[in-house]
Amino acid sequence: MSDETLSNLLKEDRRFEPPAELAAHANVTAEAYAAAERDPEGFWAEQAGRLDWATPWERVLNWDDPPFAKWFEGGRLNAAYNCVDRHVEAGRGDKVAFHFVGEPVDDTRDITYAELKDLVSQAANALVDLGVQTGDRVAIYMPMIPEAVVAMLACARIGAPHTVVFGGFSSDALASRLEDCQAKVVVTADGGYRRGSASALKPAVDEARTKAAELGHTVEKVLVVRRTGQDLGADGWDDAVDVWWHESVDVASTEHTPEAFDAEHPLYVMYTSGTTGKPKGILHTTGGYLTGAAYTHWAVFDLKPDDVYWCTADIGWVTGHSYIVYGPLANGATQVLYEGTPDSPEKGRWWRIIEEKKVSIFYTAPTAIRSFMKQGREIPDGHDLSSLRVLGSVGEPINPEAYVWYRHVIGGDRTPVVDTWWQTETGQIMISPLPGVTHGKPGSAMIPIPGIRADVVDEEGRSVGNGAGGYLVLTKPWPAMLRTIWGDDERFKETYWSRFEKLGYYFAGDGAKLDDDGDLWVLGRVDDVMNVSGHRLSTTEIESALVSHPKVAEAAVVGAQDEDTGQAVCAFVILRDEAGDGGEDIVEELRAHVRKEIGPIAKPRQVMIVAELPKTRSGKIMRRLLRDVAEHREIGDVTTLADSSVMDLISSGISSDK
Ligand code: WTA
Repeated sequence: MSDETLSNLLKEDRRFEPPAELAAHANVTAEAYAAAERDPEGFWAEQAGRLDWATPWERVLNWDDPPFAKWFEGGRLNAAYNCVDRHVEAGRGDKVAFHFVGEPVDDTRDITYAELKDLVSQAANALVDLGVQTGDRVAIYMPMIPEAVVAMLACARIGAPHTVVFGGFSSDALASRLEDCQAKVVVTADGGYRRGSASALKPAVDEARTKAAELGHTVEKVLVVRRTGQDLGADGWDDAVDVWWHESVDVASTEHTPEAFDAEHPLYVMYTSGTTGKPKGILHTTGGYLTGAAYTHWAVFDLKPDDVYWCTADIGWVTGHSYIVYGPLANGATQVLYEGTPDSPEKGRWWRIIEEKKVSIFYTAPTAIRSFMKQGREIPDGHDLSSLRVLGSVGEPINPEAYVWYRHVIGGDRTPVVDTWWQTETGQIMISPLPGVTHGKPGSAMIPIPGIRADVVDEEGRSVGNGAGGYLVLTKPWPAMLRTIWGDDERFKETYWSRFEKLGYYFAGDGAKLDDDGDLWVLGRVDDVMNVSGHRLSTTEIESALVSHPKVAEAAVVGAQDEDTGQAVCAFVILRDEAGDGGEDIVEELRAHVRKEIGPIAKPRQVMIVAELPKTRSGKIMRRLLRDVAEHREIGDVTTLADSSVMDLISSGISSDK
């Protein structure tokens, strides 16, 4: 973010007070901050009391061996029981858990908590029949259909950690995750619906299975939901491996007794991009994670029993885990689950769903809000959105204009907007206004929620104080924190805890600024991680994908500011000598190659063929200068370049031919 944008941001002086009615009945009051400050462990112990424990914990937090935390040590519970069964036992079995809305119009299905309990029990029995045991990993690669949630909960029920891989990822990305966590079973579907047509998933699983085998890992079984009914082809089914969901889960018993697991039993692994090429498997465990997800969902969205809540994330991302599956279900909420894209078959599809399902709490990403702003307010204005009472935002900093538009056009100026900062690693919302307590400032995530301690510090870890910028750190452990990187404790320590090791701070990888009131503004990543439409991508991962193309000698990737997606992928590529000029279609060829290797979200917006890359004397690529080129700025300081004429060469080459 440029200094100019930053100072404009901090000039923002609009304030929105909590609506009186909401504040009067809010779940959380201002006292919560003070209570949590006085006794953080007591505060989190109280929040853990929202859950049903088979065995109570002996110790709230064991931080004897930092950064390896144990929360609610000695306690035992079952996450699926907490998300499903206990609501049925409490007499709320008829409450709708999900209003499922498929992409094909009129393909809807309501699932009550009692029905969900049967489905999850059946799936748990079927997984056990397939040989899945407690501790085995199960990969889930699915469209946004109820079976995806059922599969996750079934895994949790039998203590088999799941790893959900976003359905938009390629077979290569899936294969590396299958191998990394040694998944025994994959749950998938024949396909899903996207923009009016069926798009296949199963063939990607077959490819990934072959690739994983080449890496030395065998997937034993693949459980397949029939969603689209599309033809799988002659080679598309292997009787020794593939099992239909309707022939196994649907016929399984609805009786399944959940076993209580240790509070620190692994619940799931979620892969996310880091600064190096290999994705990190972020490990979340059971008791602390569920406590953090349930509390924040209740507190930050002011959830009431009659609310209809809708989070538009895909369950392939952490937001779907914490704020579609674990938080809302632990709280017994009624939700919308939507399969499709925001604007298919009509631009107002989302607003129609809000109107029809009377959605009262809506949680989405700035990139979506910006695209709706572009389409114009006539589209949402054509729908009755008066049911909405709280709006949320997540994934990247929300531009003040988008915030104000969201509040005004979608929320009718009645609704607070909660801008929630958190990460795959934090598992739960960390910094956010509370809608009945904190006023909103467009563009600021405001302050840590009760029980969370954050700070903005300089290189040495000293607080910068109000009115200054630095690194965002978390200074105290929290219940839903990641426990490690799957199979790599060293990388866990190195990535998050080494920068401020002596102080014991968690380094989030984000830059931030405190304004004069002490409110926090997240400025984006300070490392080589990009944020494209709220999705994290690593520059190295995309560079590796480019370099794997036979015509490419070297590649450097930067995230450049983009009006629609926040950041966009821009690649600078040096071709191999033998590739000549690469041919007429080289740019398209390379874009398609990245798409194939990683997935559509990683496809570069621009590929620039260059003769040289700017490097320091020690050989490090100076991405800052490439970002200047990609964002059409004057090139910054080039004095540390090994060869300062390189930038002239790049700039002139680009303006003349591409
Ligand atoms: C960014 C998504 C500003 C940030 C939950 C963070 C945000 C990364 C916000 C985590 C926000 C997320 N304001 N930036 N409200 N929310 N981010 O792991 O850079 O996919 O480090 O988790 O997204 O992305 P992740």
